[in-house]
Amino acid sequence: MVNKAVVACAGLGTRMLPATKVLPKELITIVDTPALQYILQELVESGITEIEIVISPQKEIIRRYLTPDAELEEILISQGRQEEIASLKRILQSAEINFVYQREPLGSAHAIYEARKFVGREPFVVCLGDDLTCSDVPVAKQLIDLFDKKGGAVVGAKEILTDEITSYGVIDALRSGDETVCRKIVEKPSLWQLPSRLASIGRYVFTEEFFFSYERADFVGRERGIPDVINLLSNKPVYVCKILGQRYDVGSKFGLAQAVVEYACRHRQIGKQFNEYLSKFAGESKFAGN
Ligand code: G1P
Repeated sequence: MVNKAVVACAGLGTRMLPATKVLPKELITIVDTPALQYILQELVESGITEIEIVISPQKEIIRRYLTPDAELEEILISQGRQEEIASLKRILQSAEINFVYQREPLGSAHAIYEARKFVGREPFVVCLGDDLTCSDVPVAKQLIDLFDKKGGAVVGAKEILTDEITSYGVIDALRSGDETVCRKIVEKPSLWQLPSRLASIGRYVFTEEFFFSYERADFVGRERGIPDVINLLSNKPVYVCKILGQRYDVGSKFGLAQAVVEYACRHRQIGKQFNEYLSKFAGESKFAGN
C-alpha cells in the first residue's frame, strides 16, 4: 500500500518565460484550475493521503494557494457560490499537504532527497510538477497497482514515436515474464542512441532505496537527475508501467497549449461551446504563421 507522495515543484521554469518570471509554472491555469491542482487530484484519487510538495523559496505562492482561505469561503457561501472552490477544498480535506524547500536548483533527484524525512521508510509516489495526466484510472494508481503486485520500483512510461522523444528519459527495457523491466534510463538521447521508444513521463514509485542510491551516486555536473538515481537501484527490479491515458508537459509551450485546448473541450461548463468553436476555428484557420 502506498500512502505518501512527493511532488517536485521547485524547478525554475525557464522554458515558460516570461510567464514564469513571477508565476510558478505549476500554478499556470488550465482553463480555470492550476496545473498542480490536477496532479493533487490524481494523487488523492489514487488513495494518497499524505503529500509533500518541494518548492523553492521563490514559490511560496504555491503554499498560499493550498492554504484554506476562510474569508473567501465566507463570501462564496453568502453568495451561494461554494461550488467554485469545492474541488480544491475536497483535495485539502482528503490529504495532508506539507511543504519542504529546495534552496538551490540542483535537479529533481535532489528535490526528492529533500523530502526524505517526510517519506521515512515508506514507499512513495513521485510526481514531477509539470507533467499532467488525464485517464480513466488515475495514472498514479496505475503505478501503485503495479508496485503492490511486484514491489521494486516503478517508472511510468509512454511510447513516443516522434522526434520529441529526445527531450525525455528513454528506457532501455527488457521483457521479463508478463512485465517490462527498466535496465537503464538514457536521459535525453540523440535519435541514433534511442534504446527504445518508451519515454519516462514524470511519475514514479520508489522505496527508501532511492535515498541510499542518491547518496552513492556520482552525479556529473550540478544537475542531479532522477534517472541517475534509478540507474543505481540494484536491490530489486525497476518495473515499467506503460500508462493508459493522456499526458501533457505543461512546462513547455506546446504541451501547455495542448492541455488548455483538450481540457477546455472536456470542461463541464464550457466543453460543448468550446468544441463548436474549435471545429469552426479549425475549418477557417489557415494555420502556421497566418
Ligand atoms: C524530467 C526527467 C526525464 C523525464 C521527464 C518527463 O526531465 O529527467 O527523464 O522523461 O522529466 O517530463 P525534464 O522535463 O525535467 O527535462
